[in-house]
Amino acid sequence: SMSALIDPFGRKIDYLRISVTDRCDFRCTYCMDEDVTFMPRDHILSLEEIVYVAKTFIAMGTKRIRITGGEPLVRKNILWAIEQIANTNGLEELTITTNGSQLYKMAHTLLDAGVSRINISLDTLKADRFYALTRRDKFQQVIDGIDAASKLAFKRLKINSVMLKNHNDDELFDLAQFALDRKMDISFIEEMPLGVITDHNRAATYLSSDEVIKTLGRHYELTPSSATTSGPTRYYQVAGYDHKIGVISPHSHNFCDTCNRVRLTAEGRLLLCLGNEHSKDLKSVIRNTSTDSISLESAIIEALALKPQKHHFNLAEAPQILRFMSATGG
Ligand code: GTP
Ligand code: 5AD
Ligand code: SF4
Repeated sequence: SMSALIDPFGRKIDYLRISVTDRCDFRCTYCMDEDVTFMPRDHILSLEEIVYVAKTFIAMGTKRIRITGGEPLVRKNILWAIEQIANTNGLEELTITTNGSQLYKMAHTLLDAGVSRINISLDTLKADRFYALTRRDKFQQVIDGIDAASKLAFKRLKINSVMLKNHNDDELFDLAQFALDRKMDISFIEEMPLGVITDHNRAATYLSSDEVIKTLGRHYELTPSSATTSGPTRYYQVAGYDHKIGVISPHSHNFCDTCNRVRLTAEGRLLLCLGNEHSKDLKSVIRNTSTDSISLESAIIEALALKPQKHHFNLAEAPQILRFMSATGG
């Protein structure tokens, strides 16, 4: 049908990240406060609306879709939406990012529904520290979920670890080895200043990807790899292993030049960049409550013109972006 979406800076946008809920069963200290307020349910897109937006993007050239949250697997009937999207002609892959809490029971149904890759967040291998970081006592449940997924025929599994100086950086090697032993990749992430958190100091816990790679270089022979999942991760080949160690470095190695993505927030805003507020309300277009009655396709094309060139994250300042990662799925 329509030709590919190109933004004002000539970047081809063929990847959509959909946050299906801002809710989560964890309360990671760097992500949200314990007493976080979630969006009222009637503000959130219905699963039918999410599928409609996804299918429209696919018709407009979107090749990859990632389902995120909050925690996407706590949304009721999410498997139905996943199946609908995964089986749409033109889509090359449907992936999901999860905290892993539901995988012990859902891993095989996700595979059957058509999910090809899963990224699982895991910041520590110590149960007591897991409780301190997530404020929930679900360490073993997550490990059981990772083990369940790794026994199945997913194309690829990846661990995501947000690295926090003096909180979990002593586990760099253990986390990497945990992933490699299970034939999984791992990405170490620099924390981004999204939302105001009361009892967590982002500047104090910042750990650069360069430090991460330097430390891991003492344990492994690492060679920069050209492999990419067309995302921000820069991968390193690990001598002796088939799987890779990667870093996501929004601060130290900005990757905006090659940005290929936009995000649908849980409440139906099309967000053009994680680090900016430029967005278009697609919910009002779908529900026909916007003043100008335009088609969803026209609204998406209009929105794309708003995509900024890059983010300006700065951990030394108070967060400029008040929206939490959980509302946009990172
Ligand atoms: P694939 O490359 O598709 O495997 O996934 P990914 O690693 O890009 O996605 P994932 O959902 O696992 O996210 C990992 C981290 O990357 C999260 O902390 C995201 O916030 C971050 N991330 C993903 N895309 C962007 C982006 O466009 N900008 C920034 N600053 N961070 C991003
Ligand atoms: N900065 C960087 N990563 C974050 N995540 C959540 N909040 C932040 C933040 N402020 C991570 C989660 C998960 C991934 C989707 O995003 O830990 O691994
Ligand atoms: Fe939930 Fe992910 Fe935020 Fe942790 S980082 S509270 S798992 S959305």
